[in-house]
Amino acid sequence: MNKTISKPFLLSSEDLTKEDLELIFKRADFFQTSYKQGDKFDDLKGISVALAFFENSTRTKLSFEIAAKRLSAEIMSFTASTSSLAKGESLLDTLKTIEAMGVQIYVIRHGSSGAQQFLQRNTSGIILNAGDGKHEHPTQALLDNYTLLKHFGTIEGLKITIVGDIFHSRVARSNINVMRTLGAEVKFLGPGTLLPRRLNPWNVEQIDSIEDAIDWSDVILVLRLQKERMNSGLLPSNDEFSDFYGVTLKRISRRPGIVVMHPGPVNYGVELDYAISSYPNCLIQTQVTSGVFIRMAVLSLLSEYLKN
Ligand code: CP
Repeated sequence: MNKTISKPFLLSSEDLTKEDLELIFKRADFFQTSYKQGDKFDDLKGISVALAFFENSTRTKLSFEIAAKRLSAEIMSFTASTSSLAKGESLLDTLKTIEAMGVQIYVIRHGSSGAQQFLQRNTSGIILNAGDGKHEHPTQALLDNYTLLKHFGTIEGLKITIVGDIFHSRVARSNINVMRTLGAEVKFLGPGTLLPRRLNPWNVEQIDSIEDAIDWSDVILVLRLQKERMNSGLLPSNDEFSDFYGVTLKRISRRPGIVVMHPGPVNYGVELDYAISSYPNCLIQTQVTSGVFIRMAVLSLLSEYLKN
């Protein structure tokens, strides 16, 4: 078996050591360079990959699909809303049914935190977590950090503020682990109702205002307000959120060169001013492009476990 990451699955950012992260970034670099040269890849030739999304997605689903295609995988796309789940079939029976068709790698997004961990305990296949509830979205953190690495040359010592709806964010949870493993300093900014409840489990310092965050940070990672996961009453209004926490060109002009990121989809006019999309250090589109090469890297590395 060629060199690969430490665990034969990717459920959480906590599965990844610093060496794993470096290996994934190196493989992503290889794919980015080779793909531009017109090279073809057969890392997943003869391997079946199921894309099973029980929650909506544009970026993650499409980039896993294109990544798997570029690696010559056989791809099965499962759509929860038109499946036999609607007739009462369980999640585990659904996995077992797909497994019986010879699928070996499962890319799964699910609304319940821990769904992929549960499934991994019940399959000999490889599960990649493409987002589980509020828990984790490890490949998003990988692509965010890869984007930063390409921009700054290193993540060690970077000052990063994560802004907005941190409480509901799997992106924040995964990023905190990866950013800290790579040596960044991370702080939070958001309304009290959208910050971690009671004790802050990550011991992340909070910043008091968007102005202070911009003054302190090299990078602002803006999060979407996840209205679909909120009970009513967490925010007085979108306008008030924008007034206190919205990232605008005027606000970031106090620190030229600051990098602005967002995992998407963006609620423009709420957490981010539309004009930011044309700001040169807004890396949202680069994040999307990085996502394809990061997912190629992760799929390729995990496929080593199927080759013995
Ligand atoms: N960033 C992200 O997970 O986007 P999608 O929901 O479009 O996949």
